[in-house]
Amino acid sequence: MSQIIEIHVPDIGGFTDVGVIDVLVADGQAISKETPLITLETEKATMDVPSPEAGRVAEIKVRRGDKVSQGSLILRLEVDGAAATPAPATAAAPPAAAAPAPAAAPLSDARTAATRDASPGAVVHAIDEAGFSKAHASPSVRKFARELGADLASIRGTGPKGRITADDVKAHVKRLLTTTSAAGGSAGLPKVATVDFAAFGPVEVAPLSRIQKISGARLQASWVNLPHVTQHELADITVLDAERRRMQDKAAEAGVKLTVLAYLVRACGLALKEFPRFNASLDPSGENLVLKRYIHIGFAADTPNGLVVPVIRDADRLGLFEVARALATLSASARAGKLTAAQMQGGSFTISSLGGIGGTSFTPIINAPEVAILGVSRASHQPVYEYGSFWPRLMLPLSLSYDHRVIDGADAARFVVFLAKMLADVKALQ
Ligand code: COA
Repeated sequence: MSQIIEIHVPDIGGFTDVGVIDVLVADGQAISKETPLITLETEKATMDVPSPEAGRVAEIKVRRGDKVSQGSLILRLEVDGAAATPAPATAAAPPAAAAPAPAAAPLSDARTAATRDASPGAVVHAIDEAGFSKAHASPSVRKFARELGADLASIRGTGPKGRITADDVKAHVKRLLTTTSAAGGSAGLPKVATVDFAAFGPVEVAPLSRIQKISGARLQASWVNLPHVTQHELADITVLDAERRRMQDKAAEAGVKLTVLAYLVRACGLALKEFPRFNASLDPSGENLVLKRYIHIGFAADTPNGLVVPVIRDADRLGLFEVARALATLSASARAGKLTAAQMQGGSFTISSLGGIGGTSFTPIINAPEVAILGVSRASHQPVYEYGSFWPRLMLPLSLSYDHRVIDGADAARFVVFLAKMLADVKALQ
């Protein structure tokens, strides 16, 4: 027989109102004893709070950004009857245990994220996320390594039982820098000039949000590591839009609003089935393609704190109204800053729609390790020459950026032509 117990914040050395910077588990997740639940950040250090019991997470009671003190309720845990009395959660930040993959990644899946070296030379190295999470290092050393973009998986620890220390991380970064300059700086990027802006007039310094800092590093890593090409296409959505407006009452009855984006998710689901290479990732060796047998579509959402990418799981199996509902629920959570890590992971393809704002085309950056992203701009009425005359048609601009190591230009053109065909044939999407 199982029962529910409450897990509270343990003694955290007298600190109060400590910020929760990460929630590391999700509702319904099975966890073991010692699984880190949340990461706290005091002025002096970050620490993980491990679970005192194994079980299944019944209800998480804290969110990123909350402030907690000793005794605050973290979550309710469904445990086996035998473990009814929880051992109090004790030492935060188990120093020698392997911690889980850190941080809910704002740009969906964190598996092969890359970060920027902190040096002015800005050398970009891919991080082996699986290795990073298994590395033997304390949370503060992990945070330090993240800040420098150092891959713990490639560092040998000199601490007790091979634990990686802050000095090991520093030595590793130093070695990389020396190697790079000895090699003539070929792996480095040219530096952007440092300018004293205040010399030209008054200035104000505004810190980037945490999401912007993390997504910025990932966007740069994708931009410099993946050879991007963008293929543009115009889809005739005249019929689709008329049908969308006609269906709006029926959609309202079902409690959803039909946007162009809902049809696009449906169309991309069909296109990804037809062209599986667009739903794949290169493995870390760069020699094999991992073709995913699932279609999880992420969509870029603009929030007050920056860009996040919630993921609609098994998007190809959802009907139009179900997609519309998922879009509304996930974008509301995104704007409220309430997305869980699980809701931003596992994406296999991303859509970035700026159509609600405007624009005629743009070049989206691929959400690596995915291999393609669809950018969508604002639909407009344009004259289309057909049957000897010009007709006003509602044309939707599509911009597909793809990783040219994996996808050929001809396939990219076929993909967007297929998408345009699906969008013109609205029956296929309902
Ligand atoms: N062409 C014309 N109109 C469009 C359109 C398009 N491509 N896409 C949306 N619209 C319309 C919608 O139909 C809606 O109009 P309506 O109220 O008359 O029906 C209006 O624009 C607002 O739509 P929006 O609220 O943006 O809904 P959405 O479902 O299209 O998009 C999000 C939802 C979350 C994707 C969107 O709000 C968002 O955050 N976009 C920004 C993404 C971003 O920042 N990308 C950049 C990454 S680098």
